[in-house]
Amino acid sequence: MLLSGVKPTGRPHIGNYFGAMKQFVELQHEYEAHIFIADLHALTSVQNRAELEANTLGVLLDYMAIGLDPKNVTLYKQSDVPQVTELAWIFNCLSTMPYLMRAHAFKDAEAKNKEINVGVFDYPLLMAADILLPGADVVPVGQDQKQHVEIARDMAQKFNNAFGEAFKLPEAMILADMATVPGTDGQKMSKSYGNTIPLFATDEEIEKAVMSIVTGSGTELPENVYAIHSLLRNKNDLEVIYAENKGQYKKLKELLIEDLKAFIKPMREKRQALEEDKNAVLEVLKAGGKVARERAEKKMEQVREMVGLKLY
Ligand code: TRP
Repeated sequence: MLLSGVKPTGRPHIGNYFGAMKQFVELQHEYEAHIFIADLHALTSVQNRAELEANTLGVLLDYMAIGLDPKNVTLYKQSDVPQVTELAWIFNCLSTMPYLMRAHAFKDAEAKNKEINVGVFDYPLLMAADILLPGADVVPVGQDQKQHVEIARDMAQKFNNAFGEAFKLPEAMILADMATVPGTDGQKMSKSYGNTIPLFATDEEIEKAVMSIVTGSGTELPENVYAIHSLLRNKNDLEVIYAENKGQYKKLKELLIEDLKAFIKPMREKRQALEEDKNAVLEVLKAGGKVARERAEKKMEQVREMVGLKLY
């Protein structure tokens, strides 16, 4: 079984799509898949009801619009499986402070002198519970989450050693590096650089973003235009297009705009349609939550018994 969680954040860009999101769409056909929205993890940084609600629904719409299909994948939100917090507590009691202090995310936050809430410190153990409770074999994540999957493996071993065999050891599946998706200025596409092309951009936003792509002067290849274009078309196509329009940056940008519009429009329209049928979308989440919760409860029953919490 394959499982992954996505944190509900703001609007995704095409770098997120080509770096990670797209691969979930492919994986849903290859595995029994569970993909959930990590709303409890989001609480470590979002403390605003409207924002959390909107982001949770938004990320669900994003993933359904790009092609995650509830027929192929169980879609749910983490908070609909409260058993993960119960298991995370048991993991808390099996872990030490120095162990969690070695986690990269914690060390980074500390290095930045941030005020760190206990949720941030404990983040890896909640994530371990997410992964181990349903018995995930494979966990597709970005490179930055690799250590968290290793912590989940450690926790499985610690529990199994202390109480007996309950948990499988999961494997991380590292998704393509987003560093390969360039932004409009040639740096890695990232919200913090303000160089993104939103995944569900309107036609006007696409035009504006592409026209802002930084090009050198002279007759050489407009590298940044080409790099984004190569996400959408194969090398042979591009060679022809860029040879035919050598040095004509404006024309090449217009061609990129056309391709981006054709690529984005169907997804944007699907997202709009889903948004208009909000109740149906919420039903998907609800139904997925029930499936995930029932599976989790079965395992949790076993865990309570093994630990000595189940007297009757
Ligand atoms: N920490 C992950 C992220 O930031 C989200 C996440 C939470 C997750 N629980 C998970 C990913 C379990 C994989 C498995 O992206």
